[in-house]
Amino acid sequence: MRQNKLRSIACAGAGLWLTLAPALAGDAPAQSARSAAEIMDILMWNREPVGGPFALTDQAGHARTDKEFRGRLMLVYFGFTYCPDVCPTDLQAIGLALDKLGPGGDQVQPIFITVDPERDTASHLAEYVPMFHPRLIGLTGSAEAIRKVADAYKVYYARVPLKDGDYTVDHTAYIYLMDRGGSYLGFFPPGTSADRMVEIIRPRLAAPAR
Ligand code: NI
Repeated sequence: MRQNKLRSIACAGAGLWLTLAPALAGDAPAQSARSAAEIMDILMWNREPVGGPFALTDQAGHARTDKEFRGRLMLVYFGFTYCPDVCPTDLQAIGLALDKLGPGGDQVQPIFITVDPERDTASHLAEYVPMFHPRLIGLTGSAEAIRKVADAYKVYYARVPLKDGDYTVDHTAYIYLMDRGGSYLGFFPPGTSADRMVEIIRPRLAAPAR
């Protein structure tokens, strides 16, 4: 992999991830209430359920909920379009995995949920998600709606101010695989290759109709 392990966990850059988290937690509503370490602990040891309902807006401006994806596997990824490295790498792998799955790949719905809804408007997502896969759905929403779904999926995210007054978003970048009923199956770590995703997903695809 091009990036080292730490960079693959946090987009905003290696060491910042653990050190900044406690200081920022709880300041603003548009970020995780819990620290990165707490959230990672929950996810690593399955201490709490992962996933849940959402009602968001897609890149075409249409309202979408998790319920419409029942009957398909969901591959859910959280990130933001200005992410310089990790998000595009993982989204590329997701897109490639779907292609490699062939026709059976239609049973998998890839979903990208932004953790930067202020900048990632629907129209902005419309320019971004098609670069990775034609079936990739990009979702945005209010800061509250995004926080709710990120909390449900045990995603850590927090704004990190940059020197020029701009900001980046620190976030965990696991790729969640959900079953046909919307329940959590597990996660792929950031940096998982397309081939590895295919190996794991393919046995879960139904045989094609004859
Ligand atoms: Ni990212």
